[in-house]
Amino acid sequence: MNLRGVKVLITGGTSGIGLKLVDELIREKAKVIVVSRNEEKLQLLKQDQPVDSVYACDLSNPQEVIRLSEKVSQHHPNLQVLTNNAGIQHNIRFDEETSTSELILSEVNTNFLAPLLLTRWLLPVLTKQ
Ligand SMILES: NC(=O)c1ccc[n+]([C@@H]2O[C@H](COP(=O)([O-])OP(=O)(O)OC[C@H]3O[C@@H](n4cnc5c(N)ncnc54)[C@H](OP(=O)(O)O)[C@@H]3O)[C@@H](O)[C@H]2O)c1
Repeated sequence: MNLRGVKVLITGGTSGIGLKLVDELIREKAKVIVVSRNEEKLQLLKQDQPVDSVYACDLSNPQEVIRLSEKVSQHHPNLQVLTNNAGIQHNIRFDEETSTSELILSEVNTNFLAPLLLTRWLLPVLTKQ
């Protein structure tokens, strides 16, 4: 696949598998948009790599995800690829006090709801390409 000039949004591109994917995409000359929570890590990544743009967003918060989708649709009408990579694992145990509803919701929202919302709200832009 020729990725030269292709605009790709990747969530969780500041560490682990996502960061490795960012390295590879940049090597292939793709234009990379990176999303994660931590603004400092995003700025460090920007200093390190010629990424197209970065957005700080907490993907566990559905309202933030919808706002992000609106911003990206506006700023990047040529977006071609969405990579839902960001994820967390809290090792929730239903028989433990520490497994709060907030913890369960944050895992489900980050790993499941955010990819659904991003797909839903970025699809109009993606299908135009
Ligand atoms: N590593 C493995 O062996 C493995 C195996 C199977 C599946 N996976 C899955 O692959 C994905 C990536 O794993 P990884 O090991 O690369 O994880 P990682 O090193 O912990 O990286 C996770 C990335 O997601 C971002 N992120 C986490 N929560 C977020 C949120 N609420 N909003 C926005 N960004 C968020 C993190 O950035 P911030 O913290 O700055 O937000 C970071 O960039 C996950 O879905 C994981 O479950 C990993």
